[in-house]
Amino acid sequence: MPEGINGDLSGIDFHLDVSGLFSEESYQRDLDQIFRKSWLAVGHDYDIPNAGDFRTRTIPGLNYNILVVRGKDDRVRAFHNICRHRGNMLVCKEKGSSRQGFSCGYHGWTYNIDGSVRGITDRDQFPPYGNEALGLKEIRCEVRHSFIFINFDAEAASLDDWLAELAPDNLYEGFFHSFEKTNLYSATIQCNWNIVMDAFSEAYHTLFVHKNTATDYLGGDDNKMRHVPAMDIMDLHARHSVAANPSHKWADTETLAYRHTNRAFPSFDSNSEGLPPGLDFGNLQNWAFDIVKFFPNLILLTGRDWFIEGYAWPSAADETIYEWNIYHRTPKTYGERVAQEFSYVIGREIACEDLFLLERQQQALQSEAVTDYFLSFQELVVAHHYRSRNRMFDKAEG
Ligand code: FES
Ligand SMILES: [Fe+2]
Repeated sequence: MPEGINGDLSGIDFHLDVSGLFSEESYQRDLDQIFRKSWLAVGHDYDIPNAGDFRTRTIPGLNYNILVVRGKDDRVRAFHNICRHRGNMLVCKEKGSSRQGFSCGYHGWTYNIDGSVRGITDRDQFPPYGNEALGLKEIRCEVRHSFIFINFDAEAASLDDWLAELAPDNLYEGFFHSFEKTNLYSATIQCNWNIVMDAFSEAYHTLFVHKNTATDYLGGDDNKMRHVPAMDIMDLHARHSVAANPSHKWADTETLAYRHTNRAFPSFDSNSEGLPPGLDFGNLQNWAFDIVKFFPNLILLTGRDWFIEGYAWPSAADETIYEWNIYHRTPKTYGERVAQEFSYVIGREIACEDLFLLERQQQALQSEAVTDYFLSFQELVVAHHYRSRNRMFDKAEG
């Protein structure tokens, strides 16, 4: 086992059995025992800064549409976006602001932004239903590190328990709030969500899959196979810190793009000075960036001047909606703007390389001609994903 690994590795299998992973039954189990019971990140609180600001979004697979809104008390709440009269979709816009609340387009019932019912048209014609029963159906919702987390399970443990080592507020203090959302991509890919998570959980493949895009940024002469120097294995989540190649050769385009400003993904400035303690947690000499895996479906890449989130939302046994969001700080000069555009273009190319590969892997594996993986220690976070899955199944099935 390589150095730099922290955590309890019990129950992690490197010779991993993936038989049945692509079946309808396994997909339903993932939805019922993982996605219905996990804290899921669904956006950032800074996207809804003022009372009445809201977002709606679907949760693929579960077929929920949710409404997330900031209240007058500054609390962020989440609701099923469904009118309590006869179930019309209440808010049809993806985002907006309404301090007065929401009005249903079907028969005109109105709701306050805390979800309570405000007005029922032609109320005299209804039996005396109590107002408490008529409020929007609330979903558990909490904010940590700017991420809005929701949980559909009323019995689930608290978010702090769920995040465990990743919960302390100072870990990323101010970091995520210092960025503006600048580029969002979404793709529907024909593969199971678990293998999407696998692809973004190790650096081993980058040497091959991304040889033309993410060239020689990682590793270096002393670390030719791009071994990861620091990994934290937690109960359900994991993080690893990736090492930069100190002898990276600058391509002409890159030299041009970063002439006037800081580097951005897949390039990076190694210096982690002044960043909150959650970043460069392994205190590397040549830090590139960290990869934090929030179980079940968020992979977060954090660099000095950028961060990227990749969400794998299962939408069928063999289909995943992949969201890939790249964040930079607001550019102050044209030079910074050019650098960021360069980073988006390369970032998108890199993600596409992974996604194309995954559709082929799905085709091969769903035949079940091969039903096991032979993983290396560098793929510990891949193996760990399946332990986390099993832990959720064990909890759900008692
Ligand atoms: S369904 Fe909303 S008011 Fe009737
Ligand atoms: Fe990749």
